[in-house]
Amino acid sequence: MQSLSAQETVDQGLAEPLPLREVMARFATGVIVLSVGGEHIHGMTANAFSSVSLNPPTVLCCVAHDAVMHKAIRSAGHFGVSVLGADQEALARYFADKKRPLGPKQFDGLDWHAGPVTRAPLLRGATAWLECELADAHDSGDHAIFIGDVVNAVRADEGSGLVFFGGGFRSIAAERS
Ligand SMILES: Cc1cc2nc3c(=O)[nH]c(=O)nc-3n(C[C@H](O)[C@H](O)[C@H](O)COP(=O)(O)O)c2cc1C
Repeated sequence: MQSLSAQETVDQGLAEPLPLREVMARFATGVIVLSVGGEHIHGMTANAFSSVSLNPPTVLCCVAHDAVMHKAIRSAGHFGVSVLGADQEALARYFADKKRPLGPKQFDGLDWHAGPVTRAPLLRGATAWLECELADAHDSGDHAIFIGDVVNAVRADEGSGLVFFGGGFRSIAAERS
C-alpha cells in the first residue's frame, strides 16, 4: 500500500490533534505591549489582540487570569497599547519576562511617555499607539477578554512591524501608505 503524504494525512483527518498553542503558532500576529498607568502602572507583552468594532471604535485583548496585568486592567479601568516595531524584539521579550521588576521600576531606562487621555505608558519607537477605557470584560477559560473603547489612536508615519510566527519573532517591512 502506498504511504500517505503529510497533506493527505491532514486532509483525511488522520493527523494527530495538537495542543492549541502549537496550532495557533501558524497564525502570524503583530506584537503589542499592553500597559496601565497611575498607581497600577504595569506593562505586558501580548499578541491576543484585535480590533472589534470600527464605529464606535473598540478593540479586545485576552489576558491570563494569573497575569499581573489582569488585576492591573481591572483595577485601573483603562489600558494602553504600543504596537511594536521590527527593532523592538528586546522590549517584547522584556515585557514577557516574569523576572522584570514590578511597579514604576519596570519602566526605568525605557523611552516612554504617558498617554494624554489615560496616562498609560506608551513606548517610543512603536509603530502605533492606542488608549482605551475598559468597556467590558468576559472570562473564558484561563483568560479574560477585555474590550476597550478606543479614546485615542495614533500611528507613526512609517515603520516596519514586529511579527510573532512559529514561536519566534520576525519583522515585516511596511509599504508606504
Ligand atoms: C509574543 C508573546 C505574546 C504573548 N501574548 C500574550 C497574551 O496575549 N496574553 C497573555 O496573557 N499573555 C501573553 N504572553 C505572555 C505574557 O507576556 C507573560 O506571561 C508575562 O510575563 C505576563 O506578565 P505579568 O504577569 O507580569 O502581567 C505573551 C508572550 C509573548 C512572548
